[in-house]
Amino acid sequence: MGGSRSMIFADCSSSTTARLIPFGRSRLLCGGGALCARRRLHVGVGPSLPASLRTTLTVHSSPSPSLPVMNVSCSATMASEASAKVIDGKAVAKQIRDEITGEVSRMKDAIGVVPGLAVILVGDRKDSATYVRNKKKACQSVGINSFEVHLPEDTSEQEVLKHISVFNDDPSVHGILVQLPLPCHIDEQSILNAVSMEKDVDGFHPLNIGRLAMRGREPLFIPCTPKGCIELLHRYGFDIKGKRAVVIGRSNIVGMPAALLLQREDATVSIVHSRTKNPEEITRQADIIISAVGQPNMVRGSWIKPGAVIIDVGINPVEDAKSPRGYRLVGDVCYKEACEVASAITPVPGGVGPMTIAMLLSNTLTSAKRVHNFQ
Ligand SMILES: NC(=O)c1ccc[n+]([C@@H]2O[C@H](COP(=O)([O-])OP(=O)(O)OC[C@H]3O[C@@H](n4cnc5c(N)ncnc54)[C@H](OP(=O)(O)O)[C@@H]3O)[C@@H](O)[C@H]2O)c1
Repeated sequence: MGGSRSMIFADCSSSTTARLIPFGRSRLLCGGGALCARRRLHVGVGPSLPASLRTTLTVHSSPSPSLPVMNVSCSATMASEASAKVIDGKAVAKQIRDEITGEVSRMKDAIGVVPGLAVILVGDRKDSATYVRNKKKACQSVGINSFEVHLPEDTSEQEVLKHISVFNDDPSVHGILVQLPLPCHIDEQSILNAVSMEKDVDGFHPLNIGRLAMRGREPLFIPCTPKGCIELLHRYGFDIKGKRAVVIGRSNIVGMPAALLLQREDATVSIVHSRTKNPEEITRQADIIISAVGQPNMVRGSWIKPGAVIIDVGINPVEDAKSPRGYRLVGDVCYKEACEVASAITPVPGGVGPMTIAMLLSNTLTSAKRVHNFQ
């Protein structure tokens, strides 16, 4: 994962096999404005861009480097009414969880096996503790067993590896998740490599990612957030085959696997990243946009081809004096403007976010079914 901002909001750990009917239709607080250092960013300002669509971002950096809350305006200047269909990730995630509940119960009745998910948490980060608690609750809600090991901040890498090894050998555990980020003295790569590929429900093992990238190979697990994005497209009945897709962002956990997944679905895929020279131009060609950047309101209406479908993965806190918390969450895409151009869009919050845990539960169920050859 990239910066600490992502670590706070991007709990990316965490697929569903059942594909049904198209779906018809944290804790961060800037210590206060006065304490915030200000810097100005200009994004997407090209000489050919109409002045009304130029983006000026005023960024109030939080005094805590891990808790940035930004003040970013994204004002819709286009005249027309919003028309895009809202892709309701919350409702789809609930539907998936209901399906999983039914499958867990069917499996228990038929062969007496209950899927199990083990979570290893190292250290005392409150955000990580919250994520782990949410995962435990989600497991409970669908009838999956959860196991948790909470280790102190100064735990050695060897000790963490020992716990992974115990879970690797435990037949009642079908999925293992190591909550990220890990303390600095622990090598994330060696920890993720140690999780058995058969229990890698986060899909971060290099062999699972490698298989995802190769034609004719099947990964055992697909990373939860990108899988959730594709699931939303499927459940809403959007065609992917033959479409032009642009993925903005190329992280190991979201952007890169999302691009690989779209390609596996026969889209023609371009990837935009921080060194891309003409992001608007490339993005404007897309029938499908998946944005996973972490920059509030970066994708403006002028970046979007009329009728495009937009999946906004970004979760960005921006200052909001009207909110009791002092902030609200927005995506990478200027929602208001996008609604006037796109045919469909995920909201933030309530779009991709709820899908991630649903996909984790689904991966755990799939793992248990695979081990017990249960159809
Ligand atoms: N909804 C969910 O469940 C969920 C899950 C995971 C993440 N997220 C959110 O998704 C966002 C991305 O997360 P991440 O972990 O993938 O972040 P990350 O590791 O920081 O990666 C960000 C990516 O965006 C690219 N980027 C940065 N600035 C850019 C710019 N101005 N133009 C074009 N590309 C730019 C970076 O390019 P380079 O590679 O060139 O640096 C990088 O590839 C965050 O807001 C995070 O909170 C949400």
